[in-house]
Formats: sequence, C-alpha cells, structure tokens
Amino acid sequence: MKRPIAMIAGTGHAVPKRVFQNSEFASIGIDTSDEWIQERTGIKQRHLAGEGENLTTLSTEAAKAAMARAGVTAAELDAIIVGTASPDHLLPSSAVEVQAALGATRAAAFDVGAACSGWLYSSQVAEGLMAAGSAETVLVIGAEVLSRIVNWKDRNTCVLFGDGAGATVLKRSTKHRGFLSSYMRSDGTLAQLLDRPRGGAADPLTPEIVASGEHFIRMQGREVFKNAVRSMADACDRALDGAKLSGNDIDLLIPHQANIRIIEATAKHANIAMDKVYVNVDRFGNTSAASIPIALSEAIATGRVTEGKTVMFVAFGAGFTWGSMIHRF
Ligand code: ACO
Repeated sequence: MKRPIAMIAGTGHAVPKRVFQNSEFASIGIDTSDEWIQERTGIKQRHLAGEGENLTTLSTEAAKAAMARAGVTAAELDAIIVGTASPDHLLPSSAVEVQAALGATRAAAFDVGAACSGWLYSSQVAEGLMAAGSAETVLVIGAEVLSRIVNWKDRNTCVLFGDGAGATVLKRSTKHRGFLSSYMRSDGTLAQLLDRPRGGAADPLTPEIVASGEHFIRMQGREVFKNAVRSMADACDRALDGAKLSGNDIDLLIPHQANIRIIEATAKHANIAMDKVYVNVDRFGNTSAASIPIALSEAIATGRVTEGKTVMFVAFGAGFTWGSMIHRF
C-alpha cells in the first residue's frame, strides 16, 4: 500500500432543475418505453440542462459547495482540473471558465479528456501534481452537459444520458486519510465503438455533417457493455491489489453510473454485496465524468461515507478509458 499523498477534503454537486422522466420520450417522438429503459439500464429519470444552465454554471455551483465543505477559499486553489467530454466551448477549456467564475486567481486550470473516466483520471493527475510538489490544494471536477451532444433522434443513446457536475477538493493527506491506490488504462484501438465521428478539427462541421447527425455521440451499446464489464472488473482487482485489500475491506463501492447491470456485474466480481454499492443511476442516468463525484457527494451528505470508511471508485468510458482508486476517509 502506498502512503497517501492526497485526500478528498470536500465534495459538492449540482444538477439542472429540469427532470425528464422515461415516459416523456414518447412526447418527443422516440419509440421506447419506461419498461425497456428500466429493464436494460435501471434508469428512471435524468436531469437536463435548460436555459441559463451550462457546464460552467453547474461546475461552479458544485465547486462552491465542495470548497465550503473543505474550508478552502478560491485564492487557496493551486489548480483546477475539469474532466469532461462536453465542454461549453472547444476553446478555451472549461477549467479556465470555472477559474474565472470562482475568481481563483492563483490556479492553473485545464481539462482532462477521458470521457466517463474523467473524474478518476483528473484525480490521479491532481495526485501527481501534489506528489511533485507543484500543488497543495486542487479542485477536481467531473461535469457534463451530454444532452447537448446526444442525438435526440437516436433511441440507442438519447435515453441513457443526463447532465450534472460533481466537485471534490483535494488537499494533502493527514492522519492516513487519502488515496491508498490508483490505476488507469486506455485502449484507443476500440475508439469507434463510442465516439463523435465528425465535426472535430479533422473533419470540421459542414451543413452536410450537421444534417447527418454524425457530430453527435454514436455508440455500439452491446460492445461497450462487454468491454465495460471486463475493464471495470480488472480495475477493481488492480485497485484492491494496490492497496493490499480485498472486497471485504471495502465499506462502499462507488462505480461509474452507466447501467445497473454493469454496476451489478462489477460488484459481483469484486465480491462486494449490493448493499455496499452506491447507486443513483435511476435518478440521474449516465452523467459520464460527473457520475462518481455526484454519487460521492450524495453518499457523504447522507452519512454513507464517514471518517474511517474505505471507498473504492471504478470507472469506464469512451476511448476506451478505465481506472480505479481506493480512498480512506
Ligand atoms: N427503446 C426500445 N428499444 C431499443 C432502445 C430503446 N431506447 N434502444 C435500442 N433498442 C432496441 C434495438 O433497436 C434492438 O432492437 P432489434 O433487436 O429489433 O434490433 C434491441 O433494442 C436490442 O438492442 P441492443 O443494443 O442489443 O440492447 P442491449 O440489451 O445491449 O441494451 C444498452 C442496450 C442498454 C445500450 C446496453 O447495450 C448498454 O447499456 N450498453 C452500455 C452502454 C453504455 O453504458 N454507454 C455509456 C457510455 S460508456 C459507459 O458509461 C460505461
């Protein structure tokens, strides 16, 4: 087990006001049903960003809550890292927009592109900055407004996703609290199974691309499912090995909230009973990089994570990217 370098000192989250129920897809011409969505994914509803809500506003709200809980002011932040696949602008980064909104004048700010693994990757980058002595206090955010990059005519994808932001303040470890192990991997040979095929700098937007919808998220669900189950199982093993722990030692598993079946398969592999697994995919859908920090923020607010508890995080997303971390609170 490594000596903890970084610990989570405060968490917060924010989701849009508008709740969109499974039953509402019929009203926008999508041929699906509440029963199909719940059976295949466990999702009942998701929050969708409306007028005046965007990645920066949600991230800033979540960040303020996390900073208040950590007792940290904007001036104390050395770095702000935002994991996202749906930035408000392609240039500049979301992190600098949050930096400006918070008035965090001393902070270096940048985004991490690791899709649903975004918060996990960002936390490991933050840990690295702290290990190098480049930062003492880092704001790590996972945030998405996926509703603005999904194809609302494609029932294979539009039923899955939701919007939101989760924020964590990382400080230097005290009293053996902090990350006990960290693991991340990727496999870009499988990128086409979940991507936005056109509209980037390689293939800039044209009226023809917009008409084809190829600038939206495209996914081969079954293949993604199989890879997610395999990779999240591997990531649990690696995190447990790294911390010299077993599934029995984990008080709470907080997996990326993509699909209840993926969550159940991951928990089973790690030998963790479902009553020790945090699930909110039913209420928020898949919020990609935001899902783990939103779940952690809720788990702390409701007393499921308290001092001394050992929590394992595990994620998988487009790229493919995946990873895990174990944290003692
Ligand atoms: N409503 C009704 N029917 C649908 C819908 C829908 N929303 N979407 C697809 N179908 C139909 C398909 O057209 C297909 O019909 P057909 O047999 O007549 O061709 C049928 O349902 C079965 O489709 P599959 O894609 O094989 O269904 P599957 O059981 O694999 O479930 C799902 C689909 C839920 C997408 C599943 O594959 C999955 O969860 N994959 C993981 C995807 C994921 O989580 N991606 C998020 C990003 S990565 C991550 O976060 C881990």
